[in-house]
Amino acid sequence: MARKKIIAGNWKMNMTPSQTVELINTLKPLVATEDADVVFCVPAIDIIPALEASKGSNIEIGAENMYYEEKGAYTGEIAPDMLTDVGVKYVIIGHSERREYFAETNETVNKKVLKAFEHGITPIVCCGETLTQREQGVTMDFIRQQVKIAFLGVTAEQAKTAVIAYEPIWAIGTGKTATTEQAQEVCCGIRKCIAEIYDEATAEAIRIQYGGSVNDKTAPELFAQPDIDGGLVGGAALKPDFGKIVNWK
Ligand code: PGA
Repeated sequence: MARKKIIAGNWKMNMTPSQTVELINTLKPLVATEDADVVFCVPAIDIIPALEASKGSNIEIGAENMYYEEKGAYTGEIAPDMLTDVGVKYVIIGHSERREYFAETNETVNKKVLKAFEHGITPIVCCGETLTQREQGVTMDFIRQQVKIAFLGVTAEQAKTAVIAYEPIWAIGTGKTATTEQAQEVCCGIRKCIAEIYDEATAEAIRIQYGGSVNDKTAPELFAQPDIDGGLVGGAALKPDFGKIVNWK
């Protein structure tokens, strides 16, 4: 069965709650499609207004982060059941900005991925190399390690429903998109890695996105690749152009 595309916006630290309502009202008619799952991952405080504003549309709301404990003395963190209680279906885990600025490691990513599955939230698990790693020729080694650790203890049935976002760090917010060939090559390598950890059926089912300066010009070629099942979109997800990315065909 063909995999359904999944196109997600990563709003990062942008949009107040009132701006959220405005943006969703603008984007709602533009992102209407049955061909892809459309997810807006928004800041925690915007989740509830986003859910309300997107009611009755095809937009699903996701979180940008989540903690791996159930509750307790973790000032500033968001618990998984706070997300499920309001209807959040997706959570971005291990974005490179969280790894770089908030000391997330492969191990904390793994804990969060396990916790998300425990609560029935679909993790969008991020991986990606630095420019130095690419130049040193260790891209795939590095990403395979990120993926293998992220999925430790995850069952094949769970992994089939997961989303992986391949985001080369050098392409995020820089306007430098990876070439279609580079993106396809790594996404294909990630699928092979999943086949090694689990089996072919799991590798065929899991959805792998490309992220890093995706825009309405680059999306069509990227999303047409056999191993690229959609995108994780930062900057361009905050503009009406996101509608063109979602309806890339
Ligand atoms: P960008 O961000 O599209 O602005 O490069 C992508 C991301 O970080 O998810």
